Amino acid sequence: MKKYLVIGNPIEHSLSPKLHNHWIKENNINAIYEKRKLDEVDIKNIISDIKNEKIEGINVTLPFKKSVIPFLDELTIPAKETQSVNTIFKKNNKVFGDNTDIGGFERALKYINYSVKNKKVFILGAGGVVPSIIIALKRLGVDQIILSNRTKDKTEYLKKIYPDLKIIDWGETPNFHMIINATSMGLKKDDEIKLNYNDIGPKNFFYDIIYNPSQTNFLLKAKRLGSQIENGKMMFIFQAQLAFKIWHNILPKVNDNLLD
Ligand code: ATR
Repeated sequence: MKKYLVIGNPIEHSLSPKLHNHWIKENNINAIYEKRKLDEVDIKNIISDIKNEKIEGINVTLPFKKSVIPFLDELTIPAKETQSVNTIFKKNNKVFGDNTDIGGFERALKYINYSVKNKKVFILGAGGVVPSIIIALKRLGVDQIILSNRTKDKTEYLKKIYPDLKIIDWGETPNFHMIINATSMGLKKDDEIKLNYNDIGPKNFFYDIIYNPSQTNFLLKAKRLGSQIENGKMMFIFQAQLAFKIWHNILPKVNDNLLD
């Protein structure tokens, strides 16, 4: 039986095993997908388990998407571009790191028929997932990306890699069509993002990468403004779908109820 894993810390609440095991069963594949909480020092060994085929594939979640990189033989182009790996596999005797977060975000927007073409998108946050979002938005033909983060150093770093980003101070509210919460603010029920909601018109689209809780305060306030809202559930499902395709060469079926 082939074995797959998601690694991270914390990992208790990961829904990846539920999703992958559902698709494994649906497609009659002889495999199992488990979760494992790791520490930084365990990464080397777990990746050698891929090399010696004890494990067939690994999904990587926070906080290891970057720290796995030194232990891999090769990165795919999207993984290299983002310096972020969420899917590991072995091919031609080499261990590869890939990134399906970019594709996951792209597919999530296409799924709801939202086009960013020629639009201004405002991203809050500059953490690990942001390079994937930037690349997806560029692929989709965005007009301008505006970025703001509490700690400005991190936005300056991203600006070096993507010079056409517009950086603004934390707390400022620019004009935009779509706003994305890519911070961890909202994971706790009482988290409030510093944002001037009164200056934002109702025609904007509010997107939160967080999907648990399903409606953060950010999305609840936007809903009250009459704005379109969307959480990160479908992005999560689509990144998993693309990882499944890499490992099993089958694109599994996706619907809204997979995590219910
Ligand atoms: P990492 O930065 O290690 O990749 P992450 O979970 O991917 O971690 O990113 C966390 C994001 O949420 C960061 O943009 C972080 O801002 P800082 O760079 O200033 O830390 C943001 N964030 C977390 N707590 C926040 C808070 N209380 N207010 C504003 N932003 C916050």
